[in-house]
Amino acid sequence: MKKHVAVIGTGYVGLVTGACLAEIGHSVVCVDNNKKKIAVLKKGGVPIYEPGLGEVIQRNRKNGRLSFATSIADGMKKAEYVFIAVNTPPKPDGEADLSYVEAVAREVARLLSRYTLIVDKSTVPVHTGEKVKQVLRLHGRPDADFDVVSNPEFLREGTAVKDFLHPDRVVVGVESKRAERAMRELYAPLKGPLIVTDIKSAELIKHSSNSFLAMKISFINAVAGICERTGADVTKVAEGMGHDPRIGKSFLKAGLGFGGSCFPKDLSAYIKMAEEAGYDFELLKSVQKINAEQRRWVVKRLKKALWTLRGKTVAVWGLAFKPDTDDLRNAPALDIIAELCEEGCLVRAHDPVAMNLAKPRLKGVYFARDAYDAAKGADAVALVTEWGEYKELDMKKVRALVHTPVFLDGRNLFDPDGLVALGFQVHAVGRPSAALPASAVGRTPL
Ligand SMILES: NC(=O)c1ccc[n+]([C@@H]2O[C@H](COP(=O)([O-])OP(=O)(O)OC[C@H]3O[C@@H](n4cnc5c(N)ncnc54)[C@H](O)[C@@H]3O)[C@@H](O)[C@H]2O)c1
Repeated sequence: MKKHVAVIGTGYVGLVTGACLAEIGHSVVCVDNNKKKIAVLKKGGVPIYEPGLGEVIQRNRKNGRLSFATSIADGMKKAEYVFIAVNTPPKPDGEADLSYVEAVAREVARLLSRYTLIVDKSTVPVHTGEKVKQVLRLHGRPDADFDVVSNPEFLREGTAVKDFLHPDRVVVGVESKRAERAMRELYAPLKGPLIVTDIKSAELIKHSSNSFLAMKISFINAVAGICERTGADVTKVAEGMGHDPRIGKSFLKAGLGFGGSCFPKDLSAYIKMAEEAGYDFELLKSVQKINAEQRRWVVKRLKKALWTLRGKTVAVWGLAFKPDTDDLRNAPALDIIAELCEEGCLVRAHDPVAMNLAKPRLKGVYFARDAYDAAKGADAVALVTEWGEYKELDMKKVRALVHTPVFLDGRNLFDPDGLVALGFQVHAVGRPSAALPASAVGRTPL
């Protein structure tokens, strides 16, 4: 049955949520106070890079189920459900900044005119549902009829549309049977299991899930460090571990660590939240520490390969925090390039989609036309983001373009033997360095 939905906040999560709720038959207004963003959407553009999203938006704009507005009042005219999907950035001490959520809740309170579900989609710490309810009571009419729901989002940038439409699970934290029924009706067209909990548990599911995944990444990166010190191969270790269904293969890929808008901030927020609840979450602090150290791998390896770095030219392939997105938030490439520049390197960078966003953030860097152009005259090439198209490159041509054939595979994308056969000296995370003298492997701690 068609429902009327307002989604407040039209970023990665809000736009995907709004477009996909329209796709499954609902009538949705996506609201954002960023007028430029809404103007782009109203003209038929898409302000973010997300595979498949443009088609879903266009289809649902044409059939009249999806529209855009800059004011919450316009978005809420018919809304039975109001999704809050605004940003929850970290404060300097790591705590989640909930002022955007609070501001929306305040405005929504004043506009409530029928029974409405206020659904929190933003990632928020435990107890936020209670606080939102408090704001709605404080600023709304005394007889306002509403339910607050926690509905954390698990989509991944790059596969967001697919993740939303074919979810592993949909989590809804509710306080009443009425809210549970309404959420079941809203999500009825989706096939994934609907997990119904209390609000606090739903809030904790999100932070616990992201922190667990980040922990898996840091774990395998720590193992990669052991492999580098012992001559073992982390890709083989991970394969052997991953076949155990209790462990699983996903998120066991050693690399340059995690980034993005979610894992780093959600970890910090969880540590802070635990601290406030009287628990020192030391495990997660180690996860952060390992991740920060992992970003230094490129420069450490370069020093091993090239000795001094001042004046050396380094090609950096990949800027986005992961492939298939243009998102640069907390991208390892930004820290790596900053460290390379500090060391006096000349950086030639390339990314298939994130170049325009990166330009204002990376001063003094040459932005290459393509990966080949980046490699031209380089003393070393560092693969930082594992875009599939890099794997398709003609590495023989790259070999001919570079000044010295040092290749750092920060994501274990390439077969090192293939590169060695082309004459490259290969450094790969957690794997023995190919074409280095055997005596150098396993002796020198990194
Ligand atoms: N990006 C992801 O992969 C992802 C995945 C799961 C959960 N989340 C969570 O979802 C939330 C949103 O993340 P995002 O990546 O979409 O953020 P985003 O920064 O891309 O989008 C947030 C949007 O909210 C808008 N906004 C802020 N205040 C507003 C207001 N008062 N009225 C109208 N619009 C307002 C901003 O202009 C912005 O467009 C965060 O809590 C995040 O942690 C993100």
